[in-house]
Amino acid sequence: MKDIYILGIETSCDETSISIVKNGCVDVATTVLTQMDTHASYGGVVPEIASRMHTENITLVLEDLFSKTDLTMNDMDAVAATYAPGLLGSLLVGLEFAKTLSLVYQKPLIKVHHLAGHIYANNLEERLEFPLLALIVSGGHTELVLMEDDYRFNVLGSTLDDAVGEVYDKVAKVLGLPYPGGPNIEKYALQGKPNYTLPKSVVNDELNFSFSGLKSSVINLVHNETQKGSEINKYDLASSFQTTAVEQLVRKTKEAIKKTGSKRLIIAGGVSANKYLREEMTKLAKETNIKLSIPKMKYCTDNATMIAAAAYPLYLKKEFSTYDTNAKSTDKLFTTK
Ligand code: KG4
Ligand code: ZN
Repeated sequence: MKDIYILGIETSCDETSISIVKNGCVDVATTVLTQMDTHASYGGVVPEIASRMHTENITLVLEDLFSKTDLTMNDMDAVAATYAPGLLGSLLVGLEFAKTLSLVYQKPLIKVHHLAGHIYANNLEERLEFPLLALIVSGGHTELVLMEDDYRFNVLGSTLDDAVGEVYDKVAKVLGLPYPGGPNIEKYALQGKPNYTLPKSVVNDELNFSFSGLKSSVINLVHNETQKGSEINKYDLASSFQTTAVEQLVRKTKEAIKKTGSKRLIIAGGVSANKYLREEMTKLAKETNIKLSIPKMKYCTDNATMIAAAAYPLYLKKEFSTYDTNAKSTDKLFTTK
């Protein structure tokens, strides 16, 4: 069979990224331009600045990408872009750029859901085998999804309040650590011990998650200690927070494995870059005798490689998108026939 090359575009938050992926699993070339340093000075992503920067940089990112390969736009079989969920202004830049390339070079357009991208990042390691259980842990989502086949998403549970990445970022802010919070909490936690007792979530709601109680207890603890004039051990508090947050992720995933009898588990999304989570999930996989896949570090946080990879099954199903496709700040994972 002829090799299929897909150009993927990702601009849902603060990374401008374009990638070429062969047959849904080989990263031919990828460029990721992060705006992290710009947003860090504001303590978080500023949507207006993010979309402006995507607009300024996207053609430069494309130029850089093609400087890494002998392939040209004519060699592409399709153009894919994230259409949802994310920052609307940012999504629009990538999606409209994809439509333009698709029209000019007469290539099919494929819309990709950002979370499908995170899931299919695992296809860059080893072909996904179904059925599988996916734990999605990102800045906006915490979900357990059962997949019986390509693009058959059955959401078993999700967060009832905050996403785990969002809470990592919030706790980092309260501890005075710079943006992005997640990796900084991880660094601090490495040097501390879980000496603070924080409440475990008690969501009876089976496979759903809750992180707002944990977030509030960290905020209250910091405020109370500050009012008393006591000093907080930031390393220990980061460690206590991380241990409690990951305990919930592991506990719920274990319940889902038991409930579904699944033999395969994949982890997806920005928080999967966290080494402690990776270690705890590896232990769980051993204990439950289940095959585990976690993306390489560079494919955990936002990138276009995962978007091109996620577009491949849609290409094979000829699930092409029309030019009236719109960007959406929120949307459910869409399933195909
Ligand atoms: O998937 P992602 O890059 O963007 C979204 O789709 O949301 O995830 C970003 C989230 C942020 O909340 C960030 O703090 C968190 O992932 N994150 C981490 C780590 N690296 C990124 N959280 C904990 N430990 C990390 N090493
Ligand atoms: Zn993401």
